[in-house]
Amino acid sequence: MELLKKIHAKAKQNEYLTFDDYMEMCLYYPNLGYYNNANISLNPKNADFITGPEISSLYAESILNFYKNCKVFKNVDSVLEFGAGSGEMAYNFLRNTSEQDMPKKYYILEKSTHLIKQQKKKISSLPKKYSDKVVWISNLDKIENVFIIANEVLDAIPSKVFSKRKNKFYEKVIKSKDNALYLSDIDCNSLLKEEIKVIEKRMKRKIPNNYNFEINTNYDNFLSKIFTNIKNFIFLVIDYGYSENEFYHTERNFGTLQYYKNHKKLMDPLVGQGTFDISVSVDFSRVKRISSSHNIELLAYTTQEHFLLNNNILENSEKISNSFEKSNILKSLLFPSDMGENFKIMILCDSMNNDFEINFKDYRHKL
Ligand SMILES: C[S@@+](CC[C@H](N)C(=O)[O-])C[C@H]1O[C@@H](n2cnc3c(N)ncnc32)[C@H](O)[C@@H]1O
Repeated sequence: MELLKKIHAKAKQNEYLTFDDYMEMCLYYPNLGYYNNANISLNPKNADFITGPEISSLYAESILNFYKNCKVFKNVDSVLEFGAGSGEMAYNFLRNTSEQDMPKKYYILEKSTHLIKQQKKKISSLPKKYSDKVVWISNLDKIENVFIIANEVLDAIPSKVFSKRKNKFYEKVIKSKDNALYLSDIDCNSLLKEEIKVIEKRMKRKIPNNYNFEINTNYDNFLSKIFTNIKNFIFLVIDYGYSENEFYHTERNFGTLQYYKNHKKLMDPLVGQGTFDISVSVDFSRVKRISSSHNIELLAYTTQEHFLLNNNILENSEKISNSFEKSNILKSLLFPSDMGENFKIMILCDSMNNDFEINFKDYRHKL
């Protein structure tokens, strides 16, 4: 209720809230937002959705395997994880690392103060030689030579939402009247209209009428901070998403915005604020464009299935003696109908030794 009051107040004060501002409040408002309150849990036992690192430690082990391969070709000696959730990835990454491959530091940059508390608790249960490596940071000053991981972070970055009706583009906003919130539309401003025109030009087709879609203008800020501050990095972006052409597929007329609670999709984003997750699939072509405008190299774009298979997931899974458990984990992570194909791995780098070879199937041509 308290968050709802704050949303009403902000919507009244500004006449309306754009969808990204609304999503920001719903997810991150101090002590009340979905990710930023004392009850947030990403533990599969009581979470609203499940992520790769929470399914099995095999997930972090494959990423660790890739880190080891990268170290042969590039002078990276530390890890930086954005949005580390419960701390599961960091925990499993470190406890499976040999002395020889141990990162100098494992940095975590997390937006939710409540998740930071949970991460600290989880990491403190590791032997000191591992837990001592973990450092929580709030900015990117003096961070260099890092292997960066952002697992399901971009989908949690607040996005703008649009629609097209009768050949006109509108931006989705939230208004408050007589103590009720409602979704409304405002005319799309000229800058955003221009951006949509450029998308249409690249796709060589028009966005159809009666179509809802998102443009995440907030990626730019998130990514450019990384690209301008950090020297010498390899960056793994892992998330569900598509190339631009797939993202704006004519049949996806409700867009990719989703609300989740108890593993079920909700339809109404205007009730129960702060108690459900809001996410938007990633337009990986946009990530690629922002990266190349900073002269960042795109080393690979592949599916989770290809990435994990190439990073020893089957070999590592041999240690799981319960065959039912093992096949369930592998199905969830690898099957195309599950996470295997919907989830993509994009590998970005500021510069890479020419000898570096990517052996998994590469879909960069799609972007
Ligand atoms: C969907 S959860 C994923 C958590 C974890 N990476 C996993 O895969 O289980 C999104 C995470 O990103 C964090 N987050 C969102 N935006 C962020 C930002 N700009 N900087 C750092 N963390 C962010 C959230 O607080 C949350 O921890």
